[in-house]
Amino acid sequence: QSTKMWSGRFREPLDPTFESWQRSFPFDWRLVPYEVEASIAHARAIEAAGILTSEELLQMEEGLRAVAKQHAEQGEAIVTFNPQAEDVHHYVELELTKQIGDLALKLHTGRSRNEQIATDMRLFVREAIDNTLAGLTAWRKSLIELAESAGEATMPSYTHLQRAEPVLVAHWLLAYVSMIERDASRLTDARKRMNLCPLGSGAVAGATLSLDRTIAARALNFDAPTPNSMDATSDRDFALEFTQAIATLGIHISRFAEELTLYSTAEFGFLDLPERFSTGSSAMPQKKNPDLTELIRGKSGRLLGAATTLATLIKGLPLAYNKDLQEGQEPVFDAADTITGILSVLPAFTASLKFRFDTMKTAAHNGYLNAMAAATYLTDKGIPFRKAHEHIGNAVRLGLETQRELQQLTLEELRTICPEFAEDFFPAITLEATLDCHDVIGGTARPRVKSALAEAKARLTEH
Ligand code: ARG
Repeated sequence: QSTKMWSGRFREPLDPTFESWQRSFPFDWRLVPYEVEASIAHARAIEAAGILTSEELLQMEEGLRAVAKQHAEQGEAIVTFNPQAEDVHHYVELELTKQIGDLALKLHTGRSRNEQIATDMRLFVREAIDNTLAGLTAWRKSLIELAESAGEATMPSYTHLQRAEPVLVAHWLLAYVSMIERDASRLTDARKRMNLCPLGSGAVAGATLSLDRTIAARALNFDAPTPNSMDATSDRDFALEFTQAIATLGIHISRFAEELTLYSTAEFGFLDLPERFSTGSSAMPQKKNPDLTELIRGKSGRLLGAATTLATLIKGLPLAYNKDLQEGQEPVFDAADTITGILSVLPAFTASLKFRFDTMKTAAHNGYLNAMAAATYLTDKGIPFRKAHEHIGNAVRLGLETQRELQQLTLEELRTICPEFAEDFFPAITLEATLDCHDVIGGTARPRVKSALAEAKARLTEH
């Protein structure tokens, strides 16, 4: 008997180069635990359909668990030991035959590799989502703690990378918390949508046995069986959504990485990179380089690549299963591995950040960051904003020419610009007043940030 799963109608052996080139086992070996769980679920369903006795089911479950154990113990080495295995499905069947003999050959009754790979990949992605969510919670927590410890420390905010208005450092950090919360909700949402079981879909038209599909679905913790066999065997939306959600997350992480890379330069000097997470130069003895944030910025490109590969792969495929889909596995694995790697270092790196709050505050104080607050002062006196804007612009011009900030101009000078300026102008444009005039939901006024922080903390324990 041939070791192939499909050799009956063939007379010629495969070209050896083609044979080894088309194998997916060198990368899909990592699906063994999911393949085993899905096989146990299927075995239960065919037992209920009368294909296996309860005694045979027990034997089969035991044999399948032994295959999983071998994978757990030997890891990737199973690939080298089994050059004849075409893919993960073939491998499990071959190993099961070694364990329980010809009984193993009954396992494939009423199923197809097309539904198996669709199921294995869903199980893989579901777990990857759960791991990513756990990592995201850890990162979110470290950002919230950092925001808390920043207290009322201030920094400039930027638009066009030009100093704009002062903000609380906590407000800046909470911006990333908002992004993470959206990322987490995208992943949670995708998980809900994908949590349906393809088993019982057969090769394309549905199982050829009247299987109770809810048995396998329940065994694998899916909410229900998928509703259409053609869709279920060729759908990879779950992988697409996962990689797209991860790519968006990667974009956020990359922006954070870029900001820290920038802020750690001598030109900004907002933070001293933690030595534990930095590297030196083999050439320039003085260097401390931000490799961690640079690598993260770079790896986010791979995440986008995975999403693009999948979208491109799927868009031209006629229904239902096509072998092209095998190419969709590696980008999913790479995206999962890449985000796991990033989230294994990011929370600890974030927690170890030490800001130079004095430098940040000086930057927040210089460069007319209180000009908007100053204009608001005039509008409070009843001057239309457009006019107020013009007056403060003139005051800034005077400051630039004489190298002074707005608060260093004299009242007399200010009154030549606009007679509405009075003594109460100066308390209205202090750093604190400039912060606190943004007293709206989502603004950087100190009490608003305090409650935003408390709310972010509360949401952290919610799920
Ligand atoms: N290794 C294949 C894949 O990943 C499994 C499904 C094979 N199905 C088939 N009809 N050749 O897509």
